[in-house]
Amino acid sequence: MSQGFFLSFEGADGSGKSTQARRLAAYLRGKGRQVVLTREPGGSTGAEEIRRLLVEGDPGRWSAKTEILLFTAARRDHLERTILPALARGEIVISDRFADSTRVYQGAARAELRQTVEALHALMIGTEPDLTLVIDIDAKTGLARGLARNSGEDRFEELGAGFQQKLRTGYRALLTDFPERCIGIDGNASEETVAQRIRDALQGHLP
Ligand code: TYD
Repeated sequence: MSQGFFLSFEGADGSGKSTQARRLAAYLRGKGRQVVLTREPGGSTGAEEIRRLLVEGDPGRWSAKTEILLFTAARRDHLERTILPALARGEIVISDRFADSTRVYQGAARAELRQTVEALHALMIGTEPDLTLVIDIDAKTGLARGLARNSGEDRFEELGAGFQQKLRTGYRALLTDFPERCIGIDGNASEETVAQRIRDALQGHLP
């Protein structure tokens, strides 16, 4: 029975992960693969509605604990409606962010709530990607790229440079916490070079 393959992209805001996720999806489709490209927060109708509550508005709008609940609610819907059905069809799911974002943003960077994040994840989600690509870029470059987009979805970018540095540290820790599924990608290069690094890193992992 085909089980599909679940790949997530992670990294701080402006790390280029969304562009790279799109590129990889196009590349794999070009090779004849069935790919579902999705994102968090969001990725299903209900989760996209929750997304707006999370990414717009004042940075202090929610406490870190309330955020964990909202992200987890969105993730549960995303998992049920988008990810699990695609995997059951044997497809490749590429998600721009998944539970590691909550581990790093709410569990490490915003507050020391990692145990809470893990407990809720175990209870309500319980699924990990088969492989996670963590794109690392220089914190200042990332922040500048993120804010330059002026997307109106800058609640997290507006937490500032110190926060971006904490994110970077949090993502590095993830590589040591989950070495069996996380691969670090150096994102300080041209889009094309990073795309090639990602294709190289995937060698031998896709079924
Ligand atoms: P995203 O759409 O990936 O933003 P960008 O394209 O700018 O990288 O994510 C929106 C914001 O939500 C981003 O700042 C990261 C944050 N976030 C969390 O804090 N926790 C989470 O669990 C997720 C999925 C995202």
